[in-house]
Amino acid sequence: MRGVPTLLLLLCGCTCLLASAIQKEEILGAVRDFKLSSRDTGDFTHQASLDEQGRYVLLWKFDSETITFEAHVQTEGYVGLGLSPNGGMAGSDVIIGWVKDGQAYITDRYAEGYFEPRLDARQDVELLSGYENGTHTVLRFRRRLKPCDTAEDREITEDTQRVIWSFSAHDPIDHGHGAHATYHGQTRGTKSIILLQKFTQDLDLQDSSLLTFELTAGNVLIPSKDTTYLCNTMRLPVLDRKHHLVKIEPIVQPGHEALVHHILVYQCKLGMVPPTVDGGHECYHPNMPVEWNNCQSIMTAWAVGGKGFTYPDHVGFSMGTDDDPDYIMMEMHYDNPNRLSGVRDSSGLRFYYTPNVRQYDAGILDIGINSAPTLMIPPHAESFQTAGTCFCLDDALQQQGHPINVFASMPHSHLAGIAVRTKLVRNGVVQSYVGRDESYDFDLQEIRLLEPEVVVSEGDQLITECTYKTTDRTQTTFGGLSSREEMCLNFIQYYPRIKLARCYSWTDINQQATFFGVQYAHWEYPYPIYVPPNMVNQTLIDVINQYPWTNQEAERFEQHVRNGQVISFCYPDVANDFQLINAPPEPTIPDDNSISIPGC
Ligand SMILES: *[C@@H]1O[C@H](CO)[C@@H](O)[C@H](O)[C@H]1NC(C)=O
Ligand SMILES: *[C@@H]1O[C@H](CO)[C@@H](O)[C@H](O)[C@H]1NC(C)=O
Repeated sequence: MRGVPTLLLLLCGCTCLLASAIQKEEILGAVRDFKLSSRDTGDFTHQASLDEQGRYVLLWKFDSETITFEAHVQTEGYVGLGLSPNGGMAGSDVIIGWVKDGQAYITDRYAEGYFEPRLDARQDVELLSGYENGTHTVLRFRRRLKPCDTAEDREITEDTQRVIWSFSAHDPIDHGHGAHATYHGQTRGTKSIILLQKFTQDLDLQDSSLLTFELTAGNVLIPSKDTTYLCNTMRLPVLDRKHHLVKIEPIVQPGHEALVHHILVYQCKLGMVPPTVDGGHECYHPNMPVEWNNCQSIMTAWAVGGKGFTYPDHVGFSMGTDDDPDYIMMEMHYDNPNRLSGVRDSSGLRFYYTPNVRQYDAGILDIGINSAPTLMIPPHAESFQTAGTCFCLDDALQQQGHPINVFASMPHSHLAGIAVRTKLVRNGVVQSYVGRDESYDFDLQEIRLLEPEVVVSEGDQLITECTYKTTDRTQTTFGGLSSREEMCLNFIQYYPRIKLARCYSWTDINQQATFFGVQYAHWEYPYPIYVPPNMVNQTLIDVINQYPWTNQEAERFEQHVRNGQVISFCYPDVANDFQLINAPPEPTIPDDNSISIPGC
């Protein structure tokens, strides 16, 4: 239960870029002459609609120190924007801005609960411009990624951010230091966004060598229930020579933006899957062809709000050789909270590929913990951390004789996951992270470009850690494929390709069993108990489900599991399979409090 929040509060010993001592009357930033106060031309790189109706559109861009936002909001009253620890108001870093009589104002605030956020002692948001045009209020403002005011401002990192928003038909009551914003009512919400998402340069889609194919739901009837996962498979184009897949983009049927939630694509080999079925099947449902479960290596993912993924221009995903997938399986997640019925959907993905192969073949390596019931997460836990080490990497790198460059990562756990990170460990010290999200949201599956690329060499260890929160659960959560079960994985994309697709570890079941006074259980689910004799009529699963879990007990179990012996599994390199290995010692994390921020 290491303190995740402390990572968000890296101290920086500040004297800030922006005004340090603020006179009461100057607390509110004010800008006249709309649009003219900044030489910034507004070449925004990122955009998102925060509400479903497009009334609140946020544009932004960032550099290594600052982020600039421009909010376009359909109101002539005030506009609120905040960074929340969890989607609620308490603990959120908020700005409230407005335009009155041609003058724009912005206030830096802190929310303590569901009432008006108070003004920060330090005003650390710089208003760049603001105007109203009859229907909309447009405000442009800038702040530091790493705040000087660590008490009332939140750091913006590459993690998923819970952005909260609101607007009101009314301006605040007073424009002086006592500015009072009245309640915004129902025009408010929260949205998960990776604000610091990086993109590769987009392709020239006019390039005549580019070929495309599409994988779509094919006019499927969306069930009138809250959540549906629909799976279908597709044969990849049969090619006479090697091609490179270079870009994947979403095709969302117009009007279905709120229904199509996310899409995962898995790779499968010929012979593993029966042919495609009209309309597909509910994923992991007994009706789904059991062979489809063989499609387990993720190839790509897209989630609501995502723009798709373009490979860096020196890398492509190989198609058409014997080592490449023959089929793909698409898993569509439909979100239908209003239980609409009779809606048919043909959303999916478009893939761009080319015979002009690039320098390197991309590989996808799936690392972490085996998605099986040996992963056990107690209920009532505030924060339960697990770890899986990739033990086969060294062998694979030795065989190939070269290091790999990781250029993208997709951290993945399910609904109980709140953080996922992969540590690159060299000689017991964490060098960097090969993908990291300290505020993971299952509803935002995105491939994240790593810039710079991370080089992984012989001798390096990759340890993937996941943190779960189960305070709302009464039963133990086990590892598994469905979203109510859990996973702890990171799909890393790298080059050049090596002979390793999956690399997991998990704590030996008998190691876990000793926590419950069980000396020996059979290795197969549900782990029937052999010793001690007075427990022979029970399984380990029974014992775990009957255990009186509390947050303290979950903490004790976490330590117990972490210090035990683990089993390694790799695919297709099975040389190290099912070896019992001592879990690696906890790596040291260099102290990054020493990083000083210029001007802060
Ligand atoms: C006002 O601003 C909004 C948001 O930028 C824009 O969509 C709209 O077209 C503008 N209206 C006018 C009349 O310029
Ligand atoms: C286990 O079950 C068997 C058969 O029902 C019974 O004879 C035996 O006493 C039980 N053992 C224990 C330890 O409860």
